[in-house]
Formats: sequence, structure tokens, C-alpha cells
Amino acid sequence: MLPLTVSLTPDELLTRTRSVRRRLDLTRPVPLPLVEECLRIAQQAPCGSGRSVPHWIVVTDPRTRAAMGEIYRSAFDEQWSAVTAAALSGTQKRSLDSAAHLADTLGEVPVLVLACLNTGGPLPGGNQASLWGTVMPAVWSYMLAARTRGLGTTWTAAHLRQEQRVADLLGIPPGVHQAALIPTAYHRGPDFHPAPRPPLESTVHRDRW
Ligand SMILES: Cc1cc2nc3c(=O)[nH]c(=O)nc-3n(C[C@H](O)[C@H](O)[C@H](O)COP(=O)(O)O)c2cc1C
Repeated sequence: MLPLTVSLTPDELLTRTRSVRRRLDLTRPVPLPLVEECLRIAQQAPCGSGRSVPHWIVVTDPRTRAAMGEIYRSAFDEQWSAVTAAALSGTQKRSLDSAAHLADTLGEVPVLVLACLNTGGPLPGGNQASLWGTVMPAVWSYMLAARTRGLGTTWTAAHLRQEQRVADLLGIPPGVHQAALIPTAYHRGPDFHPAPRPPLESTVHRDRW
């Protein structure tokens, strides 16, 4: 059994919180109060002033999770079935294999957390960055809080191709938009490391683009 809390420095937490897919423990129940503790921390994330706060749907019911897993798998296939392995680099292929594993098992992950944005109507034109920026930091805060409690997560969005099917399943009203679906489970193995990223010089522009 892993300890409930994992001691990490802030920098370790930020650089070693990885997408966990193969190492999710699908058999170990996750206490709901623990998930709520993470969401309470996530509520402290920045959100645009005057904009609505993130809403969360925490799904633990096995039949609902199975149905979400089926939608996720279908949407994932829609997105990725045409991609041939030969077109991918080694890293991309490993990532896709891992994502495909999650697509196979998502419905069995003990907790599915769906982050939503309530605009009360269709998404407006114009400043989308501020709109989604009201939800996204909170989602990442949730994932970081989960990490320090021995939970593994992955940011997923593949199901959004079939967002309405999930809305129908969960009774999400029009005007509430789904942002990210975060499968959450205890993870097996604490050894997460910083991932390869492009050199900083390739993405930092000094004084102008
Ligand atoms: C906006 C966004 C959408 C993502 N959607 C998915 C997804 O649908 N399924 C999935 O398995 N991973 C998804 N990911 C996770 C990325 O694939 C993952 O971050 C990438 O493989 C790098 O792995 P790392 O997070 O461990 O560095 C998403 C990440 C982001 C930020």
C-alpha cells in the first residue's frame, strides 16, 4: 500500500506529475472525501473575475463509468484509428499506446472527474482564452493535489468529440460546457520523472516573436 500522502518539493511536484494510464490501480477504491479534498484545493486556483467558477461532476457509479468508458473509446477511435504507427516517432507511439490502454480501461477507473464551465448559453465568440482559463488552472491544481495523495490522473479531452453523448448520460444542461475529463485512481509505483520536452530556446522569444 502506498502512503496516502507523497512528500514532494514544489518543483518535484510540478515536474513529476505525469499522465498515469497503465499504472492506475483499477481495483483499489478511492475514498470520495479524498477526491473532495483535492477539489477544495482546486477551488483556490485563479479564475477570471466575474466569470463563472468551474463545476465538477464526480462519477463513481459503476454503470455510469462503464457508459462513459464506451463513449470515450468510441471518440478515441474516431480520432486515432486513421493514424498509422509508421507516421509516429517512438515517443509519440509510446504515448499513443498508453493512451489506447487508457481508452480500453477508462470505464473501470474508480473515479472520473469531469470539469465543466457554466456559461448559461452557447459559447460566446471573442475571448476564449479567459473563458477556458477560468477552468484549466483548477483542473491542474486538482491533478497536483491528487498526486500528493498517492493518486494518479491524466488530463483527457478525447471524449469531447462526442460531448453531447456524455451530456445526455450525466444530465448536463445546455449552457454547461465540458472542459476536461480526469480519470483518478491510486497509482502503482511512485517513480515518476521529468518528461522530455523541447529545448527551452525553441519556445522562448526574447522581446518579440
Ligand atoms: C488539453 C489536453 C488534452 C489531452 N487529452 C488527452 C486524451 O484525450 N487522452 C489521453 O490519454 N491523454 C490526453 N492528454 C495527455 C497528454 O497526452 C500527455 O500530457 C502527454 O502524453 C505527455 O505526457 P505527460 O503528461 O506525462 O508529460 C491531454 C493533455 C492535454 C493538456
